Amino acid sequence: MKQATGKTHGKVILIGEHSVVYNQPCIALPFLDTTVTAIVTESKQHQILDCDFYQGNVQEMPELMEGLQSAIHATLQKLNQSNTPFHMSIKSTIPIERGMGSSAAVAGAAILGLYHFFEAPLSDNELFNLIQVSEKVTHGNPSGIDALTTTHQTAFYFQKEKEPIAFNIQLDADLIIADTGMMGKTKEAVSSIVKHLDLKETKTAIQTLGILTKQAKKAIIHHNAIELGNIMNKAHQQLQILNVSSKELDTLVHIANKNGALGSKLTGGGKGGCMITLCHPSKTHQIKTALEKQAAKVWSMSLKGELI
Ligand code: PMV
Repeated sequence: MKQATGKTHGKVILIGEHSVVYNQPCIALPFLDTTVTAIVTESKQHQILDCDFYQGNVQEMPELMEGLQSAIHATLQKLNQSNTPFHMSIKSTIPIERGMGSSAAVAGAAILGLYHFFEAPLSDNELFNLIQVSEKVTHGNPSGIDALTTTHQTAFYFQKEKEPIAFNIQLDADLIIADTGMMGKTKEAVSSIVKHLDLKETKTAIQTLGILTKQAKKAIIHHNAIELGNIMNKAHQQLQILNVSSKELDTLVHIANKNGALGSKLTGGGKGGCMITLCHPSKTHQIKTALEKQAAKVWSMSLKGELI
């Protein structure tokens, strides 16, 4: 039986979430320990989707999955296969609505699976634009950082409407990611900032996050993990001013820093979801153990040079 696979992964925004929506830069990295796999096979009739949240006809997907549905429709249209039956099974290990790029990664895997199934070429740009079809429905005004990072195995220095720069991260440090277990609210967080955009406080926080991201880039170039940690702490304060943190995120940030982290902040849309913490590898075990007492899940990755 004909079968094709589309594979993507999670992402972590190191710095610059939210301000990236307003043309400031951000730095994001792939998180390869979490993945999405879409397997497309032949079907006699109907276009069928099979995933944890829905089993049924693509045309009848629930409203919550409207983003993915729009991306599948747009992809089939581009492929001139709008009425061709197929069966798609999607398996994901990225927790949903946690700021780890789940919606973009799921759409990306589905699009790649369909392109591979119909044996059609797909450029990076086309893939990006098709994922953005889904992201626009899901998030409203997506910067595109999730679409990019969930489909590439490199870190990126990213600015809207500019060519993304693949970024070399090599630090004597680990990055710990901790999930509060609470659903993040990216759409709500993004639109709450829009509502307060004319406030001086909001404008200043967005600009400051842009400056901090440029400083973070320099710290990474100079392999200075201590400086990067300080910058991450400052970024978290700005995200608090923008009102996109939460009690649970602040608690995890506090726990990590108290246990010897170099710096910590929320990652992604916020108002729930995940936080990240940078630490010297000798501290990873202690910080992870402390976070595990409060968090729903804790991961870690080395920044010693696997990412280019
Ligand atoms: O919560 P996530 O993983 O979708 O990350 C969103 C990042 C934001 O900067 C808040 C929004 C965006 O589109 O860049």
